[in-house]
This record gives sequence, structure tokens and C-alpha cells, in this order.
Amino acid sequence: MAKAQHNGFSNSFGVVMAAAGSAVGLGNIWRFPYICGQYGGGAFLLVYLIFVFFIGMTLLMCEFSIGRRTRRAPVKAYPALRGGGNGWKLIGVVGIVTCFMILSIYLVISGWTLNYFWESLTGSLFGDSGGFDTHFTGFAADSMRPVIFMLIFLLLGLVVILCGVKNGIESISKLLMPLLLVLVLVLCVRSLTLPGAIKGLDYLFHPDFGKLGPQGVLAALGQSLFSLSVGMGTMVVYGSYIPEKDNILKSCVWITVCDVAIAVLAGIAIFPAVFSCGLEPDKGAGLVYVVLPEVFHSFGFGTRLFAMLFFLLLSLAALTSAISLHETLTAFLCDCGMKRVPAAVLVAVLEGALAAAVAITFTGETPETAADRTFFDWMDYLTATVLPPVCALLTVLFFGWFMKKEDIVDELSNHGKLKIGWFGVYYKVLVRWVAPVALLLVLILGMMGYIK
Ligand code: PHE
Repeated sequence: MAKAQHNGFSNSFGVVMAAAGSAVGLGNIWRFPYICGQYGGGAFLLVYLIFVFFIGMTLLMCEFSIGRRTRRAPVKAYPALRGGGNGWKLIGVVGIVTCFMILSIYLVISGWTLNYFWESLTGSLFGDSGGFDTHFTGFAADSMRPVIFMLIFLLLGLVVILCGVKNGIESISKLLMPLLLVLVLVLCVRSLTLPGAIKGLDYLFHPDFGKLGPQGVLAALGQSLFSLSVGMGTMVVYGSYIPEKDNILKSCVWITVCDVAIAVLAGIAIFPAVFSCGLEPDKGAGLVYVVLPEVFHSFGFGTRLFAMLFFLLLSLAALTSAISLHETLTAFLCDCGMKRVPAAVLVAVLEGALAAAVAITFTGETPETAADRTFFDWMDYLTATVLPPVCALLTVLFFGWFMKKEDIVDELSNHGKLKIGWFGVYYKVLVRWVAPVALLLVLILGMMGYIK
């Protein structure tokens, strides 16, 4: 098979940092703690860990192998492995559509975060006498500010993409990921040294299965895929940038460990502080923008500093993830014959417009649509909970049942250079049976439970 020329990541460290940059994002620091709070703390954490290591990591390995083997973006990668057959394009198409939708939501929330960072820096976040709830709704309902901050964020990502895969994406990830770890650790220390912190740890680690239910299980699955950036083709694109010498299986383990570690550390940075202030942990999506400012406010000492550090952490994590979504769409257009610069700019223009439309839905009373959910809830539900599991299911079925096993072993062993004797069992049990059956079951049961 003729392999398209790609400039890719320089070495294994670059691969792990760039992919961890994609994986660690709003999903770990904004979404994970609040859904963990909604679905029973430790109970959710347990199910999430099982899904992330058994299903998420399996998907990561599938997508990386498909990407590196073909050196193509998702839509062309799947048919290329079957010697044509346009039906296989569907898997990539579902992925690209999901990416397109997710990026618009992602940009809006990243814009909020950037605004909160700015307001912590200038102190205006704490100068409002009306309370943080009103502050947040007032900000989201503003017709200009959220759009402006979203556009700044989008431009930052575009600049990185225009610098290229190695000099842009890889370099910034190598810089930001270690910085992120330091930031989250500083916040953990602060949170754990507050009086009554232990209650927060108990909440995070003590399982309350009563609150989990089928929806919680579906949310855990959706979160494990979303958090590892799988089920939408992003890791196929990053896979196409992996050097031939890299040990894919080892990189997958490192990326998953980094991703889980940051999510758990974010929980440790947030819950003890929330409990210590006597606040509610299950505030949903507003946990970070409403409850946390209140927590920082109650510190008395270092309020602005800690708020600034937190929103900086969240903005930087979101940046490398948004870049990976932007890059996926750019690579798809390049694969269709466009040049990289116009492709990246086109994606920015389209996403900027869609994200502005999403941001504007917050300006009025958002009407509740079918099944008591708003437009935003539906977008979030589809892009984080339904479409990625569908794309993941198709990917794992393709990998386990339609790709030649010899090709897979050849790819993962670097053409026989690495010993992966144990892979046969993993392939037979997890790839072929456990992952597809689990994805299918959770998808059906969860959807039945969700749409009552
Ligand atoms: N993994 C990212 C997060 O946790 C989100 C993301 C999903 C990024 C899919 C790229 C592709 O925030």
C-alpha cells in the first residue's frame, strides 16, 4: 500500500506528550469531577477505571494502529485497510461529524474558562456582590464576551496548528503537560490542607452504588472514551504521525495512566476544598464556574492566586485538546486534497461560526426541547455519550473482525522487532469480544434509561 508522506512526531516522548495533551482536557478537570459527583463518587470512579483501562485503552491501540498503518486520516484510513470498499468510510465519517460538533462546544467552554482566568487575574471575578451563580449566568448570557474569548482561544489553537505537527503540536504539548502536572499538584496540596478535607476524599473514593444506575454506567463509558479522545478519529490522525520505531502498546499504557492520573488529581484538588467550605459537590456543569470561585473566595488568603492557577490549568489543558480536534478536521481536509494552511483556516472559520451559534444559545432562556433537555444538553449527550460509543463499536469490530490479524501483529510488533506474545490472548478476548459486547450493551441499556 502506498503510504502518504506525513511529517510526524519525533520520538516516543513526543507521541506520549502530544496524545496526553489531547486526552487531558476539559473532560478530566471540568467534566469528570462533576459527573463523578452526580453518579455517586467512588462508585462512578470504579466503573470509570474499569472502562478506561479495558475499553478506552483498547480503542486507543486500535486507532493508533489504524493510523500508523495507513498514514491517513479516518475517512480514508478504514477503506485503505480493506483494499477499497466505500462502506468502510462510514466509520470515519461518524468520527469527523462528532469531532466537528464537539469542537464547537469545546471552544465555547474553553472561552468561558479563558474569561474566568482573565477575571481572576484582574480580580473582577471577586468584585461582584451578586454571588457567583448570578455572575456566571450573567456572563454566559452576555452576547459579546463569551464569543470574544472563544475566538481568542480558537486563534491560539490555529497558530499552533500552523506551526506544524512537530514544531507546533508536539512542542507545545511537551511544554504544557509537565506544567499542568505541577499546577494540579499545587492545587491538591492546598485543597488537602484545608480543615475537613477528608470528607471530600471520602466522597471521591467511597462508592455509593445507589446513585450510579444505568445512566451512570453509560456516562462512565462515554467519559472513558471522551477522556482518551477515542471514538472520533482523533487518535487515528495522531496515530498517523507516530514514528515507525515507537512501541504503540507501551505508549498507550503511558497515555492512559497520564489521563487517569490527571482526572483523579483534579478530583482531589476539587472535592476536599468543596466539602471544607460546606458546599454542594453535585452542582453539575456549574461546579467549576460557580462552586469553585466560592471556594477560592473563602480562602481569605491567596484567593486570586489560586483561582488564577486553577483557570490557567483548565485553559491550558483545554488548549491542547482543542488543537487535536482542530488537527483531526484539518488532516481530514488535507487527505481530501487541500493544502494544510487553507484547510486549518477553513476549519477555524467554520468552527468559529458554529461555536458562536452555540454560545448564543446561552444568552436567552434556553428553551427546553424534547425529553426536558436543552439544545446544549442534547449536543453534549450526543457528542459525549452516544456518537463516540457508536464510532468506537464500529472501530473495534472493524479491527477485531475485518482487519487481517497478521497486519495487526506486524504493526504492533514493529514488523517483528518487538515481542508481543501475550497479544494473542488480549486480541481474542478483549478486542474481539469483551470490548464490542460491553460497548453494545452499555449503549443500548444506557439509551433506554436515558430516553424514558
Ligand atoms: N479528551 C479530551 C478531554 O478530555 C476531549 C477530546 C475528545 C479531545 C476527543 C479530542 C478528541 O477533554
